[in-house]
Amino acid sequence: MTAAPPQVDVRFLSKEEFLAHLTEALEVYVLAMGYPKATIKQRAPLWREHTYRPGWRAIGAISSKGRLIGLAYGYIGAGGQWWHDEIQRGLRAADPTKQSWLTDYFELSELHVLPQAQGGGIGERLLRGLLSDVTTATVLLSTPEIDPARPGRAWRLYRRLGFVDVLRAYYFVGDSRPFAVLGRQLPLPDRRAT
Ligand SMILES: CC(C)(COP(=O)(O)OP(=O)(O)OC[C@H]1O[C@@H](n2cnc3c(N)ncnc32)[C@H](O)[C@@H]1OP(=O)(O)O)[C@@H](O)C(=O)NCCC(=O)NCCS
Repeated sequence: MTAAPPQVDVRFLSKEEFLAHLTEALEVYVLAMGYPKATIKQRAPLWREHTYRPGWRAIGAISSKGRLIGLAYGYIGAGGQWWHDEIQRGLRAADPTKQSWLTDYFELSELHVLPQAQGGGIGERLLRGLLSDVTTATVLLSTPEIDPARPGRAWRLYRRLGFVDVLRAYYFVGDSRPFAVLGRQLPLPDRRAT
């Protein structure tokens, strides 16, 4: 017999709640991404700064024991933001016709679930919840390039929800790893229709 999935509450986090749980959120991030713990301190000021951006919203997955086990956040993208300007640079070089993706979009900045809680649909709940009622035309995100031999959960999730290629094998300034930029029209169709 299969065990019932643990009860997980997925709900929006106010800016105050997010900031109060910032270290916990960053712990989820480093464990999910396999980054060194020192990344927590480096990233904290950036995540804090993001909360002031237009359209910022965050959602958390909270276990029955009150632990944050997953989170997602994002905001409305605009010129002058580092990520926007990087993607613009990449699109100009690779395919200028795709620059229209940057006119009215929500940037999905982070989406992470603790490794031991992955594989049960929490990531999809977070993503769908975060994007519900977002009024921009599209959502954009960047994710480490796919390993064709082992497409990870993030890629399976994004493809399942209809994300398409906007820019592939892109190198952000200061990062030696290739990334993919994926995008999708909003709103997402409901679960049964996808
Ligand atoms: C990417 C990530 C957020 C996805 O979250 P997740 O909870 O693991 O993934 P999903 O919500 O897609 O669910 C995963 C599986 O559960 C299944 N599932 C969906 N709903 C379910 C449900 N109600 N009950 C049980 N299983 C379910 C899905 O079919 C999926 O199966 P698959 O992995 O075989 O394709 C998570 O794996 C993660 O944090 N990865 C590392 C960090 C990362 O890559 N983040 C994204 C960077 S851009």
